[in-house]
Amino acid sequence: MALGEPKRMEELNYFELLAWLGIGSSHPGGFPATQQNLDALQVSQEDYVLDAGCGSGLTACYLAKTRGCKIIGIDLNPQMVEKACQRAVNEGVSHLVEFRVADVYQLPFDDNCFDLVMAESITVFLNKVNVYREFSRVLKPEGRVADLEMVLMKELPSNLRTQMEECFGSGTDPLLYEEWLDAIAQAGFQDVEIKNPQRIKNNGNVIVNALMKDWMLIKDLKNKVLSQPGVLSRLQKNAGFMKRNMGYFGFGLVYGRKPTPLPTAIKLGVKGHMRQAIRTLPNVYRRMLFSN
Ligand SMILES: C[S@@+](CC[C@H](N)C(=O)[O-])C[C@H]1O[C@@H](n2cnc3c(N)ncnc32)[C@H](O)[C@@H]1O
Repeated sequence: MALGEPKRMEELNYFELLAWLGIGSSHPGGFPATQQNLDALQVSQEDYVLDAGCGSGLTACYLAKTRGCKIIGIDLNPQMVEKACQRAVNEGVSHLVEFRVADVYQLPFDDNCFDLVMAESITVFLNKVNVYREFSRVLKPEGRVADLEMVLMKELPSNLRTQMEECFGSGTDPLLYEEWLDAIAQAGFQDVEIKNPQRIKNNGNVIVNALMKDWMLIKDLKNKVLSQPGVLSRLQKNAGFMKRNMGYFGFGLVYGRKPTPLPTAIKLGVKGHMRQAIRTLPNVYRRMLFSN
């Protein structure tokens, strides 16, 4: 597909459609959920972050602007990466953010280099354990993975699964909460949990309003829709499916921490382990321990 106008809307797969539009937050909960998650993660200026499947770079650029950390975004779709690079320049963060075309199954990075790997709506389409293993490889020991994904609230009947795949592509496979936790634990992560779990709500307006604040999406949206009227019906079909079946879907931040390798763990000794164990306790227990 050329980087300009697509020839026929029907020929584009879901990712190509998103890339053509330049949508910045095509994940459950939209940009408000991203902001909530980044607050929970407490990303610091010293963190070196990978955004895997970064799309048009909205989250990565926001993170650089608000936290001042260094971040690399990768995506398999060259059109997404091209738009993400434009965004970084336009938003004045190209000294902090870099975007590259790459595949999450084979990341072009050394072992043990990132403090945080984040992803938003990508593993739902892929082999979860393999992707999480690759995330683990590039994370430093004690590094964190935080992956915002669609969750099934209950088993999806096969007719609805077919409709879902028609909307979002074959292979779209949201899991139940426990299954997401199993997948990330199978890849070797510890302290696994689902942060900020939520049901899909009837708050499409909030999400659309947030989307419409993104200059990249709105700058030529009118011309795009006029040139390809089919785009509206495709977006409406996807939104209609989610609205009709919202009771089946939720979302949350699939979270885990890469363990310290054993020799380092031994060097840390008992005191170090106690400190680490205390750090991983939920805040409420930490407060109880140190309240007196
Ligand atoms: C639903 S979009 C989400 C994009 C972005 N994270 C967001 O929230 O807006 C999924 C993205 O994953 C990318 N993707 C799919 N498979 C990939 C792979 N194997 N490696 C890297 N990126 C991939 C697609 O090109 C697309 O940009």
